[in-house]
Amino acid sequence: MAPHIVFFQICVAIIALPMHILVVLGLWDPIPKKFLPYLLAKMTDSYNKYMGDHKKELFSSLSDFKGPSGELKVLDLGCGTGANFRFYPSGCKVLCVDPNPNFKTYLSKSLAENDHVHFQDFLVAPGENMPQVASGSMDVVVCTLVLCSVDNIDGILAEIHRVLRPGGAFFFLEHVTEDHSSWRYFFQLILDPTWKHLVDGCRLTKETWKNLEQSLFSEVKYKHVLAPLKWNPARCHIFGHALK
Ligand SMILES: C[S@@+](CC[C@H](N)C(=O)[O-])C[C@H]1O[C@@H](n2cnc3c(N)ncnc32)[C@H](O)[C@@H]1O
Repeated sequence: MAPHIVFFQICVAIIALPMHILVVLGLWDPIPKKFLPYLLAKMTDSYNKYMGDHKKELFSSLSDFKGPSGELKVLDLGCGTGANFRFYPSGCKVLCVDPNPNFKTYLSKSLAENDHVHFQDFLVAPGENMPQVASGSMDVVVCTLVLCSVDNIDGILAEIHRVLRPGGAFFFLEHVTEDHSSWRYFFQLILDPTWKHLVDGCRLTKETWKNLEQSLFSEVKYKHVLAPLKWNPARCHIFGHALK
């Protein structure tokens, strides 16, 4: 890392010094775990307003992946507050998995507002290790704004591949790094070490499409889009799907 980047990273860290002290003392982690669900519940409607057209486009082909029985079994991985339920087709069966149990209350509220989906269960587990979900049991796995928080992206992609049936699909919408020649990338770099703790492990400079391209999936289709979030450092997104 270039010395001037490290210098600015330290400047940002000094502004957030109380948080970094709590991190060093091992007292910080539970705070974003409690706070993030509340924050996301407040922000989901406006995010869905800005990104709704992309989400509609992304999820328009979900029904094409119904299994041989005519049912559509969806695993919403890193489900959070259930921000995607409104985009799912009527009658689909949804299994929710998230490592943060504090989302449960908010998830229940989204389920009450979206009775067109058939809720199966809420499992508390990280996506890299979901032994409760049988191999080949899912028609579709969905991740939106999840892989930015995952250290082992190759590991979670392998686990997603395992739980999908042959012919099933992984649908994703993720924020990723800005163009490396841009000022926005510079700001992502200097914010990243502090942002990671503020937003429960979220990283700003992931190149997630590279992991997808090197994964076990047979076909990976995606586009880069810019969210109309002018001051948000997580503006650059990819969305698409990959086939098992
Ligand atoms: C920014 S929130 C997005 C929530 C929701 N998918 C949405 O689009 O609003 C990130 C979510 O990823 C979850 N998450 C973090 N690490 C994860 C992991 N290793 N496996 C599965 N989910 C994870 C978090 O608990 C959180 O619910």
